[in-house]
Amino acid sequence: MLRKILLFTVPLLIAVHLSGQGTPTDFLSADFHKERREAVRQMLPANSVAVFFANAERNRANDVDYIYHQDPDFYYLTGYKEPNAVLLVFSENQSDTSGATYNEMLYVQERDPRAEQWNGKRLGVEGAKEQLGFDRALNGGDFSNIPVDFKSFDMVTFFDFKNDFRDKRGGADLFDLIKTFKIKTDYPSDYNPTKKRLYSMIKSTDVENSANVAQTLGRYLSRDTSLKEDELLSGFVNAGDDGLRSDIKEKVSLKLETNNLDSQLIAEIMSKLRETKTKEEMVLLKKAVEISAVGQAEVMKAMHPNMSETEIQGVHEYVYKKYGAEYEGYPSIVGGGNNGCILHYIENNKTQVGNDLVLMDLGAEYHGYTADVTRTIPANGKFTPEQKQIYDIVYNAQEAGIKASVVGAPFRAPGEAASKVVTEGLLALGIIKDASEARTYFPHGTSHYLGLDVHDKGTYGPYKANTVITVEPGIYIPEGSDCDKKWWGIAVRIEDDILITDNGPVNLSDMAPRTTEAIEAMMKLPSPLDDFTLPTLD
Ligand code: GLY
Ligand code: MN
Ligand code: MN
Repeated sequence: MLRKILLFTVPLLIAVHLSGQGTPTDFLSADFHKERREAVRQMLPANSVAVFFANAERNRANDVDYIYHQDPDFYYLTGYKEPNAVLLVFSENQSDTSGATYNEMLYVQERDPRAEQWNGKRLGVEGAKEQLGFDRALNGGDFSNIPVDFKSFDMVTFFDFKNDFRDKRGGADLFDLIKTFKIKTDYPSDYNPTKKRLYSMIKSTDVENSANVAQTLGRYLSRDTSLKEDELLSGFVNAGDDGLRSDIKEKVSLKLETNNLDSQLIAEIMSKLRETKTKEEMVLLKKAVEISAVGQAEVMKAMHPNMSETEIQGVHEYVYKKYGAEYEGYPSIVGGGNNGCILHYIENNKTQVGNDLVLMDLGAEYHGYTADVTRTIPANGKFTPEQKQIYDIVYNAQEAGIKASVVGAPFRAPGEAASKVVTEGLLALGIIKDASEARTYFPHGTSHYLGLDVHDKGTYGPYKANTVITVEPGIYIPEGSDCDKKWWGIAVRIEDDILITDNGPVNLSDMAPRTTEAIEAMMKLPSPLDDFTLPTLD
C-alpha cells in the first residue's frame, strides 16, 4: 500500500514542484531563419527555385529508428526539427490563383493525435506558421498538388538524393515527397550532378582551351566509372582533334538545355552562408564548446587508472546533459594507450585505462551546434618523460597553428604551421630520419570548419572574420612502429575550437587545461565523482 501511495504521490510532488518549469527557449529565432532564407534568395539567379528536403529517418533495428537528426541546412533555414518536410525558396514572388503572392513554402508533417501519442508532438501547419514564422506552411500530403510548375523555372537547384531512405506507411513521408519532386521536375533516371558540371565545362570552353579541358575531364573519368560510360564525356576526352571536340560540344550543349536541374549552386550558396557565423549562432556554438571544455576539466579531476573507456565517455556525456546539451555532435572517442592511434576510435571498450595516456575527442551538441574538443591526459595524473616530449611537440604545433588562424590567411595556413613543428620535433627525437616520414605519425588534416556539422560547410578560401575552425595536430605512434620501442603506444591529439576575428584568433575551448603542467594540476583536484559508488552486480 505504502509503495502504491509513494508511486502516486512522488510523481505528483515532483509535478507540483516543477510546475512552471518549461522547455528550453534559447533556440535560434524565427527571424534568424527567415533572414537566412532571404540570404539564399539574394544568391539565386532570376526565375529559379531552391528546394531543400528534411533529413531521412534511419532504421536502427526492427521497429526502432536512430534518434532523428535534422539536416543542418534544413535546420539553418527553417528551425524545423521533424522529418518528412520540404522547403522551397523562390528567387521572385509567385502568385497563386487568388492573386496572393509568396516567395517561400514549407511542407511539414501533418498533425496526427495517434502518431503524436506514440512519438511526440508535431508542430504541424499552425505551429510552422506561429512558431517558425512561415506565411505559407502546408501539410506534406498537399505536396503532390503543389501549384508550382517546376519546368517553368530557368533553374531548380537542390541537393541530389542519397537514396538512403525507406518508404514508410502513409503517403507523405520523405520517400513520397521526393517521388513527387522527381515526377514534377522530369528528374532523369541517370541524373548525375558531376556529369552535369563536366558538361557545363565543355559547353563553356573555347577551342584553344579544349585540349586542356579534355585532360582535366580525363582525371574525373579515371576516378568514376559511371562518368567513363558516358559516350559524350569519353568522346571528348579521347578525341584526337579540335574538330571532333567541337562536334561533341554542340551535342553536350543541346543535352544541357533539356533540363533545368542543378545541384551545384545550392552547395555553393550553403557553403558561403554557413562558413561565417552570426552573433546569434555564436551564442549557441560558444555554449556547446564551453560545455565540452568543462567536460574535459571534470574528467581530469575524476580520472583514475581503474576507469574504463566507457565510463570516461559517460562522465563527459553526463556533463553535457547536465548543461542541457541534447546530443553529442559525433560519436565520442575515448582511447587509452594504443587505442588513441585509431583516429576515429569509437569502440571505447577497454575495461581499464591503466597508466596510459587517454585521448578524449568529444563534443557536445547544443541546440544544433557542435563542439569538437580533444584532450590527452595521463590516466594516473603524471606524464612520463616520453609522453611529455611527444605532448610538448603537439602543443607547440597547435600553438603555431592557432597563431596562423588569422583573417586573410589561406585555409591551409594552420596546417602548414603545425606540420612544420611536428616534423622538426619528430626529427629531433630521432623518431623519423627524413621529413617525408612525418605523415606516418601525423596522418590527418589540422583544421576544419565547425558549426551545425562537426565538419562544417565552408568555401576553403582565405579565412574570414567570424569563422570557427578546429586546430588539432596529433602524433600517433602505434605498437610496432619503426622507431625506438619507448615511443610505442603514445598517441596525442590536442584540439581546440578557434574563432577567427579581426583582432586575431580566440580560443573558445580554453576552459579545458592544455599544458602538461595545467593538466597535472587539474588532475590533483578532487572530483564529486570520487564518492560516487554503485553496488557490485553479479
Ligand atoms: N572529432 C572528429 C574530428 O576531430 O574531426
Ligand atoms: Mn576535429
Ligand atoms: Mn575531434
